[in-house]
Amino acid sequence: MLTQKDISLSPESILLADGGTITIRPIHPDDADDLQNTFMRLSTQSIYLRFLSYKKALTDEEALRLATVDYNTQMAFVATMIENGHEIVVGVSRYALLDKVHPKTAESAVIVGDEFQGRGIGKLLLWKLVNYAKAKGFDHLRGNLDMGNTRMLDLIKRSGLPHHQRYVDGIWEVNIEISGSGK
Ligand SMILES: CC(C)(COP(=O)(O)OP(=O)(O)OC[C@H]1O[C@@H](n2cnc3c(N)ncnc32)[C@H](O)[C@@H]1OP(=O)(O)O)[C@@H](O)C(=O)NCCC(=O)NCCS
Repeated sequence: MLTQKDISLSPESILLADGGTITIRPIHPDDADDLQNTFMRLSTQSIYLRFLSYKKALTDEEALRLATVDYNTQMAFVATMIENGHEIVVGVSRYALLDKVHPKTAESAVIVGDEFQGRGIGKLLLWKLVNYAKAKGFDHLRGNLDMGNTRMLDLIKRSGLPHHQRYVDGIWEVNIEISGSGK
């Protein structure tokens, strides 16, 4: 399990409960192509739950933008695995400063490729993000969830992190309090 002090930018190799191994590391611009490949393997439902809209592919510009963060006001971690001898991205967690009026709140999102869900990767990516954001001085992570996204809501509930949710324009706006967290 990741610890509260784990804000390292070094890649971290983690053994999953089912015996698989993932590496969690900060994203970098070279990951843009891999993000596009990962996107093409996502189900329509996962795309909708992550982006709250339907899209068929990530454009080169979108992929590069998603892969380029400043590691401070914006951060993203990728979970990778080796498939046929190549590193592939199987999940991403990210945050971005919401706006300057709320300097301690970041908007966040997590996605795990359909073939890799249910193996603990989403939980690991969430904790990695929480610990990093906390170390960077954020005290809340905010996510916009489709009202049917019980899986993500359950993940947040089971994390034990204090949170509250409110219904805004047909979606759940979930605010996770991370300042007191430590896992
Ligand atoms: C939500 C999401 C990120 C979860 O990722 P994941 O890797 O499947 O989650 P994990 O395997 O870490 O599971 C977390 C918990 O859910 C449980 N779980 C996993 N699969 C489950 C399933 N099919 N049904 C019910 N519970 C499940 C796990 O047992 C685990 O429970 P624990 O906390 O008690 O250990 C993933 O389903 C996803 O990418 N969904 C589409 C995008 C999305 O909805 N993102 C969130 C909005 S931005």
